[in-house]
Amino acid sequence: MVIRKAVIPAAGLGTRFLPATKAVPKEMLPVVDTPAIQFVVEEAVAAGLTDVLMVTGRSKRALEDHFDRVWELEATLEAKGDTDKLRKVQESTHLGDVHYVRQGDPKGLGHAVLVAAEHVGNEPFAVLLGDDLIDPRDPLLRQMVEVQQREGGSVVALMEVPHDQISLYGCAAVTGDGDVVKINALVEKPPADEAPSDLAIIGRYVLSPTVFSVLRETPPGRGGEIQLTDALQTLIAMEPVHGVVFRGRRYDTGDRLDYLKTVVRLASEREDLGPPLLAWLREWLPQQ
Ligand code: UTP
Repeated sequence: MVIRKAVIPAAGLGTRFLPATKAVPKEMLPVVDTPAIQFVVEEAVAAGLTDVLMVTGRSKRALEDHFDRVWELEATLEAKGDTDKLRKVQESTHLGDVHYVRQGDPKGLGHAVLVAAEHVGNEPFAVLLGDDLIDPRDPLLRQMVEVQQREGGSVVALMEVPHDQISLYGCAAVTGDGDVVKINALVEKPPADEAPSDLAIIGRYVLSPTVFSVLRETPPGRGGEIQLTDALQTLIAMEPVHGVVFRGRRYDTGDRLDYLKTVVRLASEREDLGPPLLAWLREWLPQQ
């Protein structure tokens, strides 16, 4: 069955970014000059997913407004003849068909996916975490969609991380050592000495709708939250779950240090900002 729908959970509390996230979802924090979530929606659309459902929580207005028209701003820019800025404002409006659903209580990523059940219906769908960016030069989602179409079941994105960091992620036990592996078990944030591998789950999934019935039966796990990883572990006994091992560029904008690195890195690569930023960094760094 062709995959058309993408679910983007963006209802987390974002406590690592307080106080910035008191009134603004962390997914709206700018990466240079573009909110992180816009890159995520662009990625979904580039992978052929035209129906985007955003799972929102508190302060959802900023998210909705970003993907809506802003008449007065557009009219002002148009009157000034500032077509460059007008194009920037309109870009996010014309991306795709964006829908919204409220999570209510942020009871975990698994719960956020479950509230998408009615919108998704009985077809496979993609999940893209709203604070996890994949560089468009290293397309991952399209490959995951292809694997799902070929193998059926569900597909999870994996990335090899340093051994001492695996306890920060969901971890996969796999068979195979290529780019596409069979997943035998998944465990959420295991202590490093109990981790079955250094393959971490990153924020991209292509899931079969069976996951919804499993999530309904999944009790709260680690941190009292309904964990998507726990539901996928149950799913493994019911249908194939594959992993696509990603070796490209990924930016975790939900973590403060990684967020800062992302902004510096992507700004450095831009034609308008890169040369002056790098020149300043070269001058400033030796003084530190
Ligand atoms: P995180 O665990 O990174 O989000 O969830 P968080 O809880 O907001 O972050 P901190 O630790 O407090 O800073 C990963 C993704 O899942 C979404 C988040 O918005 C983020 O995009 N999420 C998480 C939900 O939509 N609902 C939830 O209940 C939990």
